[in-house]
Amino acid sequence: MKTITSNGSDVSTVKLVPVHPADHGTEWWRSSVIYQIYPRSFRDLNGDGEGDLPGITAELHQLAALDVDAVWLSPFYVSPQRDGGYDVADYCDVDPLFGTLGDFDALVARADSLGIKVIVDLVPNHCSSDHVLFQAALKAGPGSPEREMFVFRDGRGPAGDLPPNNWESHFGGPAWTRVTEPSGEPGQWYVHLFDSSQPDFNWDNPAVHAEFERILRFWLNRGVAGFRVDVAHALIKAQGLPDWHGRPDGVSTDDFPGHLAPMFGQPEIHAIYRHWREVLAEFDGERILCAEASIDPLSRLTNWVMPDQMHQAFNFAYLATGWDAEALKKVIENSLRMFDSVGAPTTWVLSNHDVVRHATRFGITEVPARPGDGIGPEDEQPDAALGLRRAKAASMLMLALPGGVYLYQGEELGLPDHTSLEHGFRQDPAFRRTAGERLGRDGCRVPLPWDHAAPALGFNSSGEAWLPQPSEWAGLSRNVQHADPSSVLSLYRRALQLRRSEQLGAGSLDWVPDFETPECVAFINNGVLVLLNMGEKAVEIPALDILLTTDEELAGQRKLGPAHCVWLRLKNSGVAGDSWQE
Ligand code: BGC
Repeated sequence: MKTITSNGSDVSTVKLVPVHPADHGTEWWRSSVIYQIYPRSFRDLNGDGEGDLPGITAELHQLAALDVDAVWLSPFYVSPQRDGGYDVADYCDVDPLFGTLGDFDALVARADSLGIKVIVDLVPNHCSSDHVLFQAALKAGPGSPEREMFVFRDGRGPAGDLPPNNWESHFGGPAWTRVTEPSGEPGQWYVHLFDSSQPDFNWDNPAVHAEFERILRFWLNRGVAGFRVDVAHALIKAQGLPDWHGRPDGVSTDDFPGHLAPMFGQPEIHAIYRHWREVLAEFDGERILCAEASIDPLSRLTNWVMPDQMHQAFNFAYLATGWDAEALKKVIENSLRMFDSVGAPTTWVLSNHDVVRHATRFGITEVPARPGDGIGPEDEQPDAALGLRRAKAASMLMLALPGGVYLYQGEELGLPDHTSLEHGFRQDPAFRRTAGERLGRDGCRVPLPWDHAAPALGFNSSGEAWLPQPSEWAGLSRNVQHADPSSVLSLYRRALQLRRSEQLGAGSLDWVPDFETPECVAFINNGVLVLLNMGEKAVEIPALDILLTTDEELAGQRKLGPAHCVWLRLKNSGVAGDSWQE
């Protein structure tokens, strides 16, 4: 039993519920803050309308001021950009759009001098159809070793003109495309879980393993701190490539609860990551692997982060949790218990380049009218003020949690999605492949605003941008927020400083159940009491030192309004008496 007291008087007597003890290890990746950069939209130094590596290098000091441990760069490799660079044509070179290998080296050197590690994206499930290996496979014909690098099969039906199975692409349409053989005849089919320009590698072939080991070593030798592994759960396909009647993304549905889709989560996959971990261990400096694996439930995802496999996995169950206190408590507790059970850190993430930004998600009160993964001009428009208020509060809760955190560029400015983007600008293959039924992810990939008064909001000096920025972003530009103590940027800076000084990433979690109302999420981590008010009414704040609050307005009255978060110091609080007693 513990008692929280204020000025010597009892505020409440609560039985804490311990969930997560202080972390076991001290490795940096157990408590890291990793900032995702989408290079095409970060900063454009040469003015061609597309972000570039020198643009990132020029602004790294801003991320150092935020106090992040590492940056993760989405792909900047040679690519025709049919899927935003996740269609790689050469894994060991930089696309001229982004710069050169020399620019990459300069970026790593600058990051190193600022104490920031650099993680790169590795896309092992598929490459671009422009890749020399795929081009060679097309030329070499059926039965050749070149074709064995990919998943080619004869079609079904007497003329072979039906796809080998019923798999669907993530981006809509069939997951198979038929090729024309060198003879000029219609021929075999190849599988592509994503766009037809992204043929899947055949991970049953040792030559594919060797090729990726070469790629890993290439970047490790160039000084990267690790890899975010794209669709890490898809590499191996079930023998015989059986039909699948569940969702194309393999996520469980009521019809297929916990079912293993033939293209995802095959048991043989883990041997690949065991080997990669050994490769990384040959290099100094605790280099890491982080799995992007949409595996549910969490108890299965933990198979990816066993001590001899990956170091981290994205926690998409957390990202997918809406504005709901019960659901949030459940996913936090479940995540910590599950990852603890295998000795891995839990990670937390609210936004990335594939989802609607959380400042927009939390501002949508109805289910969007259209299906799909973006919000467009015809959909219900978010309540921007509500979305931002909730996003700030949700981010502050996340930054107080023990484990690793992923931030997506622009969330520290409180950016929403571009929800009125005209369709003519859309580049996501999901938009094209579903004839506009799914809007795709362009709305969360819009170039960042640096300067409210400059053309293209300071993204570059030419005023060109590959996607237009919404006009309301001007007021959210970095220069406007930089020196404003009440800005979202200042809030993130303060939270990240405190997260480090109070060692929250390596801390513990005890619930303070039903604090005021069940709609209040309340926990203690390393002597810091964190309250998130997800209800409709203001709640009392105990008379403890306020370390940080999103609700300056009511702080003087010691209240926390709806959709606000506060961090309080339990120990050495400066209030009369012991503020926190065992
Ligand atoms: C990436 C996406 C990409 C897909 C195919 C994902 O998980 O995050 O942006 O479209 O993999 O590579």
